Formats: sequence, structure tokens, C-alpha cells
Amino acid sequence: MANQVKTIGVLTSGGDAPGMNAAIRAVVRTAIYHGLQVKGIKRGYAGLLKEEIVDMDGLSVADIIHRGGTILYTARCLEFMTEEGQQKGAEICRKHGIDGLVVIGGDGSFRGAQRLAALGINTVGVPGTIDLDIACTEYTIGFDTAVNTAMEAIDKVRDTSTSHERCSIIEVMGRNAGYIALWCGIANGAEDILLPERYDNDEQKLIDRIIENRKRGKKHHIIVNAEGIGHSTSMAKRIEAATGIETRATILGHMQRGGTPTCKDRVYASIMGAKAVELLVEGRSKRIVAYKNGGYIDFDIDEALAMTKDISEDQYEIFKHLVR
Ligand code: ADP
Ligand code: F6P
Repeated sequence: MANQVKTIGVLTSGGDAPGMNAAIRAVVRTAIYHGLQVKGIKRGYAGLLKEEIVDMDGLSVADIIHRGGTILYTARCLEFMTEEGQQKGAEICRKHGIDGLVVIGGDGSFRGAQRLAALGINTVGVPGTIDLDIACTEYTIGFDTAVNTAMEAIDKVRDTSTSHERCSIIEVMGRNAGYIALWCGIANGAEDILLPERYDNDEQKLIDRIIENRKRGKKHHIIVNAEGIGHSTSMAKRIEAATGIETRATILGHMQRGGTPTCKDRVYASIMGAKAVELLVEGRSKRIVAYKNGGYIDFDIDEALAMTKDISEDQYEIFKHLVR
């Protein structure tokens, strides 16, 4: 094959996510299995522009599958948003003989990959973000670990909330998406969830429900608030003033992005990393690996980035039916 890929580069970009290491390991080892060279690019597109590029072999990814974070480090890079930055990145790939690039990251990182593909670099994206906010896929690396971490933390807040008969607002990550909040809302048996996709900003309705629940004998009122709504601390103050019920806000923050990846994140990330390399080996480029309807598929990057998705209305309805 004339255009056969010989050297694969791999980078992680945007927010890190537990399971990214499993994906890196799968990229490196699948490439080696196919007789290819592999180069690790450190610190995402920022490292690419600074030529922070290292040779990788099977051993460089030993002892990482169980670790959170990313051994390649990650970054956000403004320079890469510019035409000049993108051209420089493509030239650096060519200079280092990188003829296939695997980008592990979110939508923003895929836009970078889309630009590189337009400049002649074979690229494949692997969805890595705790937010689950990539439209073409039902799974993103790190979401499973993040919701489990958040769920355990919320259980703990709930214990103390019950003891003190308080209302607790727990803010979870997700950028503009409510997937983490929705899943935790169901898994933690929250009394309310505030999702950017659904919240009507009717705080009085929320207050009325808290008062009503207290009258019915509920010992706590757990509100899982999505980062996209935010303002948990000021909301807690207003709720306490309006209800007379002590109210505390807890913002879980970056602890949701760290920690040991779950089995699901390790396995799915391994499969997606391997698939990305297989696509490049088959001579396919400008693709995003995705998981849909129980199987692994891939989409053209333009097509994938044009898609939109919403939280599941069914899941949201079920959450509401289970609140009593
Ligand atoms: P994520 O990949 O998790 O969505 P970001 O949105 O922060 O995270 O994007 C990560 C990086 O991808 C950015 O810092 C930038 O270097 C690159 N990027 C984002 N959007 C674009 C774009 N439109 N064109 C080129 N590169 C982009
Ligand atoms: O995209 C992952 C994420 O953790 C979002 O949930 C959050 O909005 C953002 O990254 C936080 O970014 P930073 O780590 O730069 O504060």
C-alpha cells in the first residue's frame, strides 16, 4: 500500500480522564503489533508545537493501565487554535515522520484533529472526557470512573446531611452538560437534580419542594447541581434563608477527574485505542472512534462534530418518578 502508515503519534488533549492511560497503552501496543513505530507527544497540541516528542515502546506503557491521569500529560493550547499554529503542527508531524496521529480528548481536541487532517495528517480521534458530551458516542473514556467517584462522595455527604437534617447541594462537573449530574441523581437517590439541559431556573419551586419534603418527614434534601448551572454556594444561602433549613454546598471539583479507572473505563479505552490504530493501518483517516448501540464504530470527523445530543429524556423521567 503506497500510503501505508509507518509511524504513529499519540497525544492526550483537553481535560484528563481516568482511562486515558489504558488508551495510550493500547495505541502503543497495537501499533507495535502491526510493526509500526510509535511516538508519544507530550502535553497535547502545546507539546506538539514545542516538539516534545518521545519514542515509545511496549515497556514505556508498562504499569500504567491502572493509573488515573495521563502519562503523556495534557494541556489546552491557544496557539493551536490559529491557522499558523495548525500549519506548524502539521509540519512538525511531517518532520518527525508521524504519518498517523491518534488524538485522545474531547470535542475541542477533535477540532484540532480536524484541522490537522485538512492539512494532510492522517488523524483518528478517541473520545476522552469525563463529561460524556461528545455527540457521536454513548461512551467517553473517564465518565464511568468520574460518576462512580462522584457517587461515593455524594453518599458521604448524604450521611452527614441526614445526621444534621440538612439540605445539601452537591455540585458535579460536566462543563455545559448534565450527564454526570443525571447519573448521580439516579444513583444517589437525590431529591432534585439541576441540569443545564432542563433546569427552568424556578428556585421558588425548588424551595417549595424542600419545605414539602421536610413536612413529610424527610431527613435530608440532596440536590445534585451540574457545573453548567453552578452558583451552588449562593443558592445554598438563599435556600437556607427561605426555608429555615440549614443548607450546605459542596463543590466536588477536580477529585472527579482523578483516581483509579474502573474496569469499564480500562476495557473500553483499550478497545478504542486499538481500534484507532487499526483504522490508520487500514489507511483510513479523519475518523472518530465511537461506541453506539452496543458496538464500536467510527465516524468522519466533520460528520461527528456536526452531530448534537441531549441527555436521555427517559432517564430524566425515571429520575422524577423515583423521587418520593
Ligand atoms: P476538550 O478536547 O476536552 O473538549 P478543549 O475544548 O479545551 O478540550 O480543547 C483542547 C484543545 O484542543 C484546545 O486547547 C486547543 O488546543 C484545541 N482546540 C480546541 N478547539 C479547536 C479549534 N476550533 N481548532 C483547533 N484546535 C482546537
Ligand atoms: O472537560 C472536563 C472538565 O473537568 C469539565 O467538567 C470542567 O468544566 C473542566 O474540565 C474544568 O477544566 P479545568 O481543569 O481547566 O479547570
